Amino acid sequence: MKNISAVIGGTGLSQLAGFQLKQTLSIDTPYGPPSSSVLLGELNAVPICFLARHGNPHRIPPHRINYRANIWALKSLGVERIIAVNAVGGIDERMGPGHLTIPDQLIDYTSRRVGSFCDDDTKMPMHIDFTYPFDEKLRQVLICKASDLKLDFSAAGIYACTEGPRLESAAEINRLERDGAAVVGMTAMPEAALAREKEIAYASISLVVNKAAGRSNEEITMEDIEKVLATGMGDVQQLLHAVLSTFSEA
Ligand code: HPA
Repeated sequence: MKNISAVIGGTGLSQLAGFQLKQTLSIDTPYGPPSSSVLLGELNAVPICFLARHGNPHRIPPHRINYRANIWALKSLGVERIIAVNAVGGIDERMGPGHLTIPDQLIDYTSRRVGSFCDDDTKMPMHIDFTYPFDEKLRQVLICKASDLKLDFSAAGIYACTEGPRLESAAEINRLERDGAAVVGMTAMPEAALAREKEIAYASISLVVNKAAGRSNEEITMEDIEKVLATGMGDVQQLLHAVLSTFSEA
C-alpha cells in the first residue's frame, strides 16, 4: 500500500469517528505483538490505519507499551506518516485543560524503555538526526487545519516525556518548566524516535487533560481527566478528519 496515514490513538481515543473498517489485522512482529490489532479502513474514502496505543480495551500503561512492535507493524503496512494523539498535562499556564498543542520539540526523561530498533550489537548502530523530533511538514498541515477550524491550540511547545506511570511531583514539574517544557506526557518517546528510525513522518496532537502537578490547588484525579478527554477528543477528531483528507490526492 502507498501513501497511507496512520493514527496512533492514546488515552481517550480508541476509535475514529466516521471510520469505515475494512480489515482487522493481527500483525506478528520480531518484537512481539503490537498493543492491539491494526484497523485498516477509510475515513472519507482516504485509506487509514488505526492503532490503539494502550490496547483495546485500554489496559497497557505507558511504560509497558511495546513501542517497537507498534512502529514495526505500521511500517510493515507501508505507513508513511503517523499522527499520534497524546494526552498531556499542561505546564505552561496558557495550556489549560482542553487546549491542543502541536509540539515542535521534546525532551526525553524516560529511563526504562528500549529506544531503538538497534538494540543489540549485530547491526551497525543507527544515529538518526533527531534535531527536529517531529516532522515539520506534517506539523504545518496540523497547524493550518487547526487554525482553519479555529481550535484552541498552540502551534509549538516542548513535550517532556516522563517514565510514569505515576504523575510528577511539583518539584519535578518546576524542573521541567525550567527546562522549557510546555506540556508533560508519557507516550511520545520512544515512539517518535522509532518512527524516525523507520523513516515515517511523525507528529503529535497533544490534548491537555489536566494542569500539571503543582499548577493548581486541586488534586489531579482520573475522574476530572476523563471529563476533559470526553469533550476534548471532539476537537481532536475534527482535526484528524481535516488533516487526513488532505492526503487523499498526494
Ligand atoms: N503528567 C504526565 N503525563 C500525563 C499528565 C501529566 O500531568 N496528564 C496526562 N498525561
